[in-house]
This record gives sequence, structure tokens and C-alpha cells, in this order.
Amino acid sequence: MYTTQGLTPGNAAIRELPIGLFDSGVGGMTVLRAMRGILPNESFLYLGDTARSPYGPKSVETVQGYTLQAAEELLKRGIKMLVIACNTATAAALDRVRREFPQIETVGVIEPGAEAACRATHTGRIAVIATHGTIRGRAYEEAILKRMPDAELFPIPCPLFVAMAEDGLVEGPLATGIAARYLDPVFRIPREQGLETPDTLVLACTHFPLLQSAIADVAGQGVTLVDSATNTARVVKKILREKHLDRGSGPSAGVAFCPGSTRFLTTDDPERFKRLGEQFLGMTLAPCTVELAKL
Ligand code: DGL
Repeated sequence: MYTTQGLTPGNAAIRELPIGLFDSGVGGMTVLRAMRGILPNESFLYLGDTARSPYGPKSVETVQGYTLQAAEELLKRGIKMLVIACNTATAAALDRVRREFPQIETVGVIEPGAEAACRATHTGRIAVIATHGTIRGRAYEEAILKRMPDAELFPIPCPLFVAMAEDGLVEGPLATGIAARYLDPVFRIPREQGLETPDTLVLACTHFPLLQSAIADVAGQGVTLVDSATNTARVVKKILREKHLDRGSGPSAGVAFCPGSTRFLTTDDPERFKRLGEQFLGMTLAPCTVELAKL
């Protein structure tokens, strides 16, 4: 098992380590993008388990097993903090990862997303769209109700959105048609009947920010879309500060994005990972290293 081998928090060597991010595939890049914006001096090691994604339809036990393997791989390679940048993996395995690897601070995306949703809502009616795995785990509901016991929640599994985001099917009549199929029962139909509808919609899957404009069109005006990326990055920043692990205070801050400060690992074809990753990160990955990892 990984140990810090004599390194103690505050030790300059630990501060220089990257922050580890893990997702079932490329969706976590939306979290990486927010982290780069908020933590420009940090470096990152991103692992996408593309060989075994999607995680959304899989059992809790399977997703837990995959997530523990991924965490172990990142810890072996040296990281100072772990971010599970995948809602499905957070819902299934965050507690297990924290138990199995107590030597490292691990952050998931659900608590930060729930916090953002509670800040955004005025009416307490909150829709949560996610994979089947995340909805089934009810972790968002628990995290929101803990903060806002009177909240009324509308969980909606939207499994096709994952494949659509990866396929670039993010706008146009087909994208809005599928979005309507999922969202109309909670938004348009009750609204037409004069019923109250949610004022906040949580994009509770790291793939979904790519479909933001189609989702917003279908949900309708007056609905605030929130995702967990920015708030997760803020939480990470706060923890790094508190634990004196932030690189901003270290001697070699300000490194370039690629190839220097961000490395990528994938469990399947690195070229496909690069191609898909660029869509999610919104920039070229050409100069970046994408290494094949065997878990
Ligand atoms: N990106 C993952 C999430 O946030 C979902 C994709 C998958 O099903 O693997 O839940």
C-alpha cells in the first residue's frame, strides 16, 4: 500500500506533487478545466479509465473496485491530494477510498455540487440529472437535504447524455429532442399545467456541462444550471491552503500547462483519449503526454 514515506505535510517535496484527478473517462476534464483556472500554479495527474467506462450502468461493487484501483495507481505514482472527478464513482466509492487510503485527502464532486445547488435555489425545488448509478446511490439527495431539509428534489437519470457528450452530439434538434424526452416531465409539462417546477438543475455528471445549452433550452427560462466543477476546485484550494500543501507558496510556482504541469493516464487507446479529451477540456492536448496505464 502507498505510504507517504517520511514526507510530512508542509514538506516542500509534497507540495511539489501533482493533484490526482480520476474519472471513468474524459468527463472529469470539465473539473480539470475549473481546477486549472482556480489553481494556476498547481500540477495535475489525470487518470481516465476509458477501457471500462461508462460507469453509470454498472453495480456499486464494480464501480468501487475500479475506483479503488485507480486511486491506488495515482497514489503509487505520487500525488498530494485526490479528486474523484466523477459523480458515479463519488456516489459509489468516496467513503471506501477515504477508508482505504486515509493517508491522503480525498475530495468527491457531490458535496461541492450539492452546496452550489443550495446556494443557487430560491424555491428549494432542485432537479438532479445524472447517470443511473448516481441517481440510484441517492448521494445528491442526502447531501442537499442535509443542508436544506425542506428541499424538494427531482432526480432524473439521463444515461444517453454521456454517449452524446462523447460523440459531440451536444446541440441541434436531436440533442434537444433527447433532452426534452428526459426533462419535459419535470419542466415543460407541469409548467403548462400551471404547476411549480424546479428553479435549479444540477448537472450531476461531469459529462453534462458539454450539453449545457441544449439542457438550458429545454429546461426553460428561469432555471439556473449548476455543476460541481468550480465549487470542487474551490474546496480543493481551501484544503491545500489549510494543510499547507499549496504550491502557490512554494518556490517553483507558475509552470506551463503542457507538457510541464499536467500529465494524463488512460486505460485504453491514448489517441482516442486525446481526441475526446480536447472536446471536454476545450483546448488541444497535442503537446501533452498521454500514457497507457494498466490497472
Ligand atoms: N462522468 C461520469 C460521472 O460524472 C459518468 C460517465 C460514466 O457513466 O462513466 O458520473
